[in-house]
Amino acid sequence: FRTLDDLDPKGRRILLRADLNLPMRDGVITDRTRIERLAPTVQELAEKGGRVILCSHFDRPKGKRVPEMSLKPMQEALAQALSRPVAFVDDCIGPEAEAAAARLQDGEVLLLENTRYHAGEEANDPAMAAALAKLADVYVNDAFSAAHRAHASTEGVARLLPSYAGRLMQAELEALDAALGNPARPVVAIVGGAKVSTKLDLLGNMVKRVDVLVIGGAMANTFLGAQGHAMGKSLQEAGMYDTARAILETARTANCEIILPSDLMVAAAFAANVPTREVGVDAVPAEMMALDVGPDTVAAIEARLRQASTLVWNGPLGAFETPPFDAATVAVAQSVAGLTQSMGLKSIAGGGDTVAALKHAGVEERMTYVSAAGGAFLEWLEGKTLPGVAALETAA
Ligand code: 3PG
Repeated sequence: FRTLDDLDPKGRRILLRADLNLPMRDGVITDRTRIERLAPTVQELAEKGGRVILCSHFDRPKGKRVPEMSLKPMQEALAQALSRPVAFVDDCIGPEAEAAAARLQDGEVLLLENTRYHAGEEANDPAMAAALAKLADVYVNDAFSAAHRAHASTEGVARLLPSYAGRLMQAELEALDAALGNPARPVVAIVGGAKVSTKLDLLGNMVKRVDVLVIGGAMANTFLGAQGHAMGKSLQEAGMYDTARAILETARTANCEIILPSDLMVAAAFAANVPTREVGVDAVPAEMMALDVGPDTVAAIEARLRQASTLVWNGPLGAFETPPFDAATVAVAQSVAGLTQSMGLKSIAGGGDTVAALKHAGVEERMTYVSAAGGAFLEWLEGKTLPGVAALETAA
């Protein structure tokens, strides 16, 4: 695909697809990572005299104008991050948006309202794509984290305008390719989180591509249950036992070593600072639940990491938002950061929870690369084609 190196933005109206789907609580942005990562693309285009028209989805309003899902709160956050004024128009297509786009001068920035206020966005309706294309001379996609969606603003419009990858899109793809396209071995993957069912394809594909797969989080309970361990009140998906066994079998034939927890931190209830017990996987009391992996498991993971050249991490090892069940995730995060700095381990992480966990551990800056993407990062890891990226390639 073409990048900003191939585009002279001076005097041109540029429709810039960003991912401003930021975490918000009670109308307040709780994490600005995606804005910070986007800012260099906007700056570069504006400084070179481009007329930047930003569009994005926010949350899932399903084609309706849900007021709580307006992009208006992002206007000020963007202006701060860019140190330049940002105008706002409360629709992303139609006469008002067209007039605002036409008024833009060189170097000015305009933010459009939520693309998902129109049902045509998610339907990838050609009429919606055409209405977006009408606003601009060229299209730049900087939303790697939304590139797994074939929507009008991520896919359809790329067929209608000369299209380019923004700097963040480019950086995400280059970093993932460099570290994982032909990775230095051994490769260790850590996959955690709650459900086997949501990461089934990922696990099935990972065992064929990595040397060691560490399975943590609640999904490890399902694997342990499938192996015949009594898991007490632990969260697990008993309906996934056969699938879990099939994944272990695929791993065996692919020569991928699986690391499951050997010990667990258990408690009677899931709450902050409750009394906990450290038990082996064969000794989970019937009335207790596993909420984190134990110190022996952490030591086993660290031993594999010391041998590894590449690490890819998605999903925390325990219920890290609720201390003390952050202990294993924090300990492993610190080991990873240390090995990255001292031993040249290539450490790549992605996914909303994973980024939050790395920030919580204070090591986000010491990883080789942290992707701003969640779902798109996972689909890329699975080797799936991302429609937003494919559209840029076709356009080129
Ligand atoms: C994300 O946050 O992963 C992207 O913005 C995609 O959002 P979506 O899952 O609502 O499509």
